[in-house]
Amino acid sequence: MELSINYSDIVKVYRMEQTYVMVKPDGVQRGLVGKIISRIERRGLKIISLKMNVIKEATAKEHYSEHETTSFFTSLVKFVISGPSISMVVAGKDAIMVMRTIAGATNPVDAAPGTIRGDFSLDIGRNIIHASDSTDAAAREIAIHFKDSEIWEYSKIDEVCIYE
Ligand code: RTP
Ligand code: MG
Repeated sequence: MELSINYSDIVKVYRMEQTYVMVKPDGVQRGLVGKIISRIERRGLKIISLKMNVIKEATAKEHYSEHETTSFFTSLVKFVISGPSISMVVAGKDAIMVMRTIAGATNPVDAAPGTIRGDFSLDIGRNIIHASDSTDAAAREIAIHFKDSEIWEYSKIDEVCIYE
């Protein structure tokens, strides 16, 4: 049988948006890293950088600087630096919006089943995952957590099946 798509002749360069994703310390402690990565990959998004580290306090404060004046800022920063987390750069078509949808509503009580927060969490202060909420935030957050040399812009063989 002849294949209708020529898999050996992939020359197209797909336009990818990049976003920053963190599995917060609660997700790591609960052994959810694999399940979360699996959800990202099965959607067709591509992980172009990934690391585990304990985020430094100054970095966490910079990351969440938009919340500096809120009542939850101190506890949020304290929690995010409380243990190892996973930082990723995720790429794909509309990656920013798609990752926000996969993550689900900020308050897990409002998060739809099928989303990470809606399936795995209950409390707003333990909502498992962070994903950038805009193009500006994605660029800012990627630069906070990664050096350019840590980001790998490679092609994946399945892109011809994911993108038209
Ligand atoms: P994130 O930045 O972590 O991806 O979450 P988000 O965009 O969905 O929500 P955002 O408004 O940016 O809030 C950042 C994190 O702060 C905690 N939070 N606590 N107690 C509260 O009222 C409250 N509100 C927000 C959450 O952990 C949220 O993810
Ligand atoms: Mg946010």
